Amino acid sequence: MITMLTNSKILWGLWQVLNYCVTRTSVPLLVAVGTALLAARLMALVREMRKLPPGPWSPPVVGYLPFLGVRHKTFLELARNYGALFSARLGNQLTIVLSDYKLIREAFRREEFTGRPNTPLMHTLDGLGIINSEGRLWKSQRRFLHDKLREFGVTYMGNGKKIMEGRIKNEVYELISNLHRSEGTPIDINPLLALGVSNVICGITMSVRFSQGDVRFERMNHLIEEGMRLFGEVHYGEYIPLYNPKLKKKSQKNREEMFAFYQTLIDEHRETLNVNNVRDLIDVYLIEIEKAKREGRGGELFEGRDHELQLKQILGDLFSAGMETIKSSLLWMIVFMLRNPDVKKRVQEELDAVVGRDRLPSIEDMPNLPFTETTILETLRMSSIVPLATTHSPTRDVHLNGYRIPAGSQVVPLINCVHMDPNLWDEPNKFNPSRFFDDTGKIRRPEYFMPFGVGRRMCLGDVLARKEMFMFFSCMMHQFDIQMVEGDAPPSLEGTVGATISPQAFRVQFLSRAGAPLVGAALPVDHAHLRHVGSH
Ligand code: HEM
Repeated sequence: MITMLTNSKILWGLWQVLNYCVTRTSVPLLVAVGTALLAARLMALVREMRKLPPGPWSPPVVGYLPFLGVRHKTFLELARNYGALFSARLGNQLTIVLSDYKLIREAFRREEFTGRPNTPLMHTLDGLGIINSEGRLWKSQRRFLHDKLREFGVTYMGNGKKIMEGRIKNEVYELISNLHRSEGTPIDINPLLALGVSNVICGITMSVRFSQGDVRFERMNHLIEEGMRLFGEVHYGEYIPLYNPKLKKKSQKNREEMFAFYQTLIDEHRETLNVNNVRDLIDVYLIEIEKAKREGRGGELFEGRDHELQLKQILGDLFSAGMETIKSSLLWMIVFMLRNPDVKKRVQEELDAVVGRDRLPSIEDMPNLPFTETTILETLRMSSIVPLATTHSPTRDVHLNGYRIPAGSQVVPLINCVHMDPNLWDEPNKFNPSRFFDDTGKIRRPEYFMPFGVGRRMCLGDVLARKEMFMFFSCMMHQFDIQMVEGDAPPSLEGTVGATISPQAFRVQFLSRAGAPLVGAALPVDHAHLRHVGSH
């Protein structure tokens, strides 16, 4: 009661002052009051800006965009000038860059950093799927996918381990047979790797297998590549809304074509669904959707979003996250082997000693092939194929190292900076797999080694990736001497920026190593359970 009385007295007083000002006071006084208020607001803004991490000066509207160049390289330069936590305005978006591994770990373990930026391009995805969703949908989908992928062996545990390993083995054997057929002629291995790696993830998610030269596969690859480029590259439309409509249309068209392909597969799966024989991730989702409907939870499932749209976005997310990353890493492994013959020789010696010459390496050999494994780790360190991970965005204002990180800003970890930091790695520019051994000869992965990101949104496919890379790499090294083509320059270490940082195109010769080549009957390939797309 007393508060109400006091409040009404204050309001009455203010009203009297205002009345007096408007009726009796001169215009100059009003202008002076207005200016003072404006100045106070500006000072408050400056105080707020001072709390932001330091960063380069940039002109209004466009911000630092015109000087950005190749993002991860420019950020590396800026980190040298402004430190491990800096900010830069890109158009109307504030970007915060973290390049200290402790800071990255501290930030990304926090719930607030699991948000995604609210940019025009993100709107075309409607916050669906796993990579670009946030909040409750992301949380429930991450848990669901983590558990369900386990059923298909995409983790270390679970019954599906054998299913996944079998799928990888089949694709690796197919690749090895194709490479033997090349008989040492110079080839571009990129398309063969793309096919093998795509077939692994497409097998797990939708029981689809593409054949060599298949036009549908080429189209799908093109769409994935284009889709990731639209998100990965710097588009002015993302930062200065004026440019946006054209870009939005392009990305919508891309998505519609991909979704039409997934829809055909979903329809076929629904017609042949058998709850006692779950074939892949599409089946898992269809069963979950039917169950929720039966139990009257249909409206709540996926936070009320369209069930099939969510499933289609999940398929797209897993294909784009799981294909290009592994393919690029394998290409980098070949580049480093061509440039470091001594390491190549040591890997082959280890394979011959542990596996022998009358069979191919298998997943069970992994713990006994430490040098082969550290060669893969060293490749991941030096190539940092996803140097900026995925962009995070705080869901509310947070403080980090005494600085304010505003809600909605774009937060990126600078993984390439951490991986090449001379304070953390001895001679970081040298390809040295032995750096991953501790004093007792055991493999150690330091906490500043983070090719799969860290924290709550860390990669969901790291186990699949590790196994897949091991199988493809060890089998290629076991079967072939990888050689540079005479007269060709060594493949460059300068990567091409696309969906990932991948090596520039190069040619290579796969010469069969001594001993009978393991092809044909020695490599029983079993694709019977998979639906072949484009096979003749
Ligand atoms: C060498 C291979 C791979 C590398 C280097 C890699 C790296 C990464 C990185 C850096 C992130 C972002 C982490 C962050 O922003 O904090 C990520 C996210 C993700 N990755 Fe991978 N990845 C690889 C393979 C895979 C595979 C095979 C799959 C598929 C099963 C996959 C599925 C995902 C998903 C779904 C996310 C998003 C997770 C989320 O938003 O919660 N990745 N990956």
